[in-house]
Order: sequence, then structure tokens, then C-alpha cells
Amino acid sequence: MSNVILVGIQWGDEGKGKIVDYLAEEASLVVRFQGGNNAGHTVIIGDQKIVLHLIPSGILRKETICAIGNGVVLDPNVLQKEIQSLKEKGFSVGPENLIISHHAHLIMPYHRALDVMSEKRKGELKVGTTGRGIGPAYVDKYDRCGLRVGDYLNLDLFREKLKANIEFKNLVLQKVYDAEPISYKEVEAEMIAHRDWLVPHLKDVSYVIYEAQQAKKKVLFEGAQGTSLDVDHGTYPYVTSSNTIAGAACTGSGVGPTTIDKVIGVCKAYTTRVGSGPFPTELDNEMGEMIRTKGGEFGATTGRPRRTGWLDAVCLQYAVRVNGITDLAITKLDVLSGLDEVQICTQYVHSNGKKNNKFPADARALSNVKPVYESHPGWKSIPEHCDKYEDLPKEAKAFLARIEELTNTKVSLVSTGPDRKDQIVTHNLF
Ligand code: GDP
Ligand code: IMO
Ligand code: MG
Repeated sequence: MSNVILVGIQWGDEGKGKIVDYLAEEASLVVRFQGGNNAGHTVIIGDQKIVLHLIPSGILRKETICAIGNGVVLDPNVLQKEIQSLKEKGFSVGPENLIISHHAHLIMPYHRALDVMSEKRKGELKVGTTGRGIGPAYVDKYDRCGLRVGDYLNLDLFREKLKANIEFKNLVLQKVYDAEPISYKEVEAEMIAHRDWLVPHLKDVSYVIYEAQQAKKKVLFEGAQGTSLDVDHGTYPYVTSSNTIAGAACTGSGVGPTTIDKVIGVCKAYTTRVGSGPFPTELDNEMGEMIRTKGGEFGATTGRPRRTGWLDAVCLQYAVRVNGITDLAITKLDVLSGLDEVQICTQYVHSNGKKNNKFPADARALSNVKPVYESHPGWKSIPEHCDKYEDLPKEAKAFLARIEELTNTKVSLVSTGPDRKDQIVTHNLF
């Protein structure tokens, strides 16, 4: 198997970065296909902590090429800083190992400003975005007025498009938000300054993937966010502005669905969510606080405390279906160690009194469901750097077996700690 898509199947932050870093040792190519620097993917190597926002988490492996696909929205300021910070940590990043699609859209300074203002205007109904300009950048993409990284190749055209955009954005800023207009000259200077270092990274990413596939090399597609944050299939309107499910790997990188062999769903042994929106298994109590503290559940991008709750099998069953998950990677099993019992939500009671395992992917409907729990005996501890399934406590094995049963999907990887070394692989993932 050579073409593997990896996606988060909850509300993001499932530990995708850690698993991608592990799989990247074997992969020739790792491709980001949607989202932008709203993502924060953490990799821990010994005492080094690396958080990747835009660059695929395969970049820490010497032989692996990383690609930013057409589906990503890219803020050059962030990318420049990320490259710099990786170099300072001793990793090499250059056009030879980081390629960028001409068709990826640029996040402009006015996108960031509009993101923040739109949230402020929504007040109580705010989405709780990361404020990184993701939504406004995708709005321009679909409005067909956005600037793409490839526009750097023709500066006259770049300037022309930028002028038209700033003219319109200034109308919005002044007339809708009663805010100060932005200066064309300042934005132009800020953006054009990125041209010279960025252009050498431009490549036909779709074709590079095609060549790798023809040569039977291993290609890994790295999702950002998670299924319940998908703009169509998530808890709309409390979602991000891109499709986050596995299908987006094809549209966001320019490959056909028939080339894909496997879809890995990454899932925490419990659930977290950052930002607003319904969360049926949320634990707004001491248990929730314990999980947050022990699991270090604070946003890798914004530092916000993550909301925490029990594992939700109804949400997982839905995610398995809409992504076509073939394998599960369960992370953070260690965080639940030491509890007398752990719970799994197996059904919802809906507002009409009906009890079933249907996940209503709509914020209003989901906010009215009540979770039905099943209780499982907890386990005391998991051996440090545990890498053998046999070494897991029997209660933890039973918990994993129940997840397999409820989702009708095999668990192929179990992560038992944040470090690169902390995992058990039960089925080959490539
Ligand atoms: P991502 O956005 O899906 O890549 O996930 P984040 O990096 O935002 O959040 C996952 C957090 O959990 C990071 O701090 C990881 O270092 C950490 N992590 C990943 N797997 C495990 C695990 O199995 N156990 C523990 N304790 N931490 C983990
Ligand atoms: P990774 O890839 C968790 C959430 C935000 C907010 C909503 C919309 O690290 O799993 P946006 O800025 O995208 O318009 O915000 O989506 N969100 C994430 N939550 N992990 C992420 O990425 C997220 N990216 C966006 O908190 O609720
Ligand atoms: Mg994250």
C-alpha cells in the first residue's frame, strides 16, 4: 500500500502531527491538502518540541519531501517564521524538500483583520476562530478574487489583483466595520517582500505526486483539523472553512480517488474541542479539568484551553463513514490511566426522545442530544515507552477492542505518550 490519507476524526488536535512524523520515516512524500496555519501539529523528539502550522509534519525526516497542496491557504509571514524556527532547531528546509503548489491561495493581512472583526461582530454567536484569516481567505478563493502563490510569477498582475482587492476590502472595512482603511502601499510592500524566497519553492505538486505514485513510492496525505470541523460534514456553522475529510486530499492536491489505498483516522481516547459549538460528551467538571491538565489540552496554535469530554462513538461511527476510514490510530491512551472507570458514549437521545446512533451534523440538532454512556473498568498505568500490545493492561485492551467493535474498524496504531517513540503498531499502516 503506497497512498495513505491521514485525517483527524474528532474536532482536531487528535495527535495527527505525531503520527505523521512517525509514518514519514517510511514516506517519500508528505502532502498537506487543506486548511492553513489554524492547524498546530506537535511532534516531540526527546526534549525538543516542534509545532508545525503549515509545513507538513514529515519535514523532520531527512529523506522526506514535503508538499503544500493547492487546497491550503498560505500566510507567507507564518511560513517564513516556521522555516526559520525549524532551521534554528537544526532541521534543513529548502526548495529541495519543501514544495508549494502555484494554486495555493495567499492569506493577506486584510484576511486576518477581517477574521477578527467578523468574530467581534458576531458577538455571542462567534465561531471562536483562530483569527488567522482562514475563513476570509477561502471566501476570496470561492469568490474568485483571491491571490495565489503562483501570482508571484507575474508581479504586474499581482499588483493589479491586489489593488482591486484592497479597493473592495476598504469599502467593507469602512462601511461595514467602521474601521480604518488599509494602505495598498503597506500591503504591497509586506507581500512582495516574500517573493524572492517563496518562488523557488513553487512546483506542480499534483504532477510530483503523480510521478511518485508511478514510481510506487509511499505518499502520505496529512489532514488538518478534524471531521466535525468540516465545512460541509461538521457541526456547521461551528466549523472551519475547508473540507477536512479524506475526500479533500484528492481535490486539495490534484490526485484521483482511485489512487488511494488507505485512510487512517486519528482519534484521541477521549474528546476535545477548541472554540464554540456543541459537544455532547463535554465534561464541564473536575473530570474534564483532570483530562485537560493531564493531557496538556491547551491549543498548539492559540494556547486556548481545550474543552474536554469522554470518547464519543456516535461521532466516530459517522466519521468512519464519511471518510471511509480503514484503520484507526488511537492516541493519548496514557492520559486516561489511573481512573477507576472510563466512559464511552454509544448512543444519543435526540430532542424527540428517540435513542439511536445517528450523528446530526448540524449545530442546533447536536446541541439538543443527550449522550448515553457505557462504563468500562479503568487501568492503573501504561508502561513507559510501551511498544508492545501485549504489555498493555487488560482493561486498556478491552477498551480498544470495544472501540473496534463500535466503529467496525481495526485499531492499527496506539499512541501511549507524546514522544516519537511512544507507540504500538498492530497492523502495517503503509
Ligand atoms: P494535532 O493537531 O492533531 O497534530 O494535535 P496537537 O499537536 O494539536 O495536539 C496533540 C497533543 O497531544 C500534542 O501536545 C502532542 O504532543 C500530544 N500527544 C500526541 N499523542 C500523545 C499520546 O499518545 N499521549 C500523550 N500524553 N500526548 C500525546
Ligand atoms: P489541527 O490541525 C482544533 C477550530 C477553531 C474554531 C474553528 C474555526 O491542529 O487539528 P478557523 O480559524 O479555522 O476559522 O476556526 O475551527 N480549529 C481547530 N481546532 N484543531 C485545529 O487544527 C483547528 N483549526 C481550526 O478553534 O473553533
Ligand atoms: Mg493541533
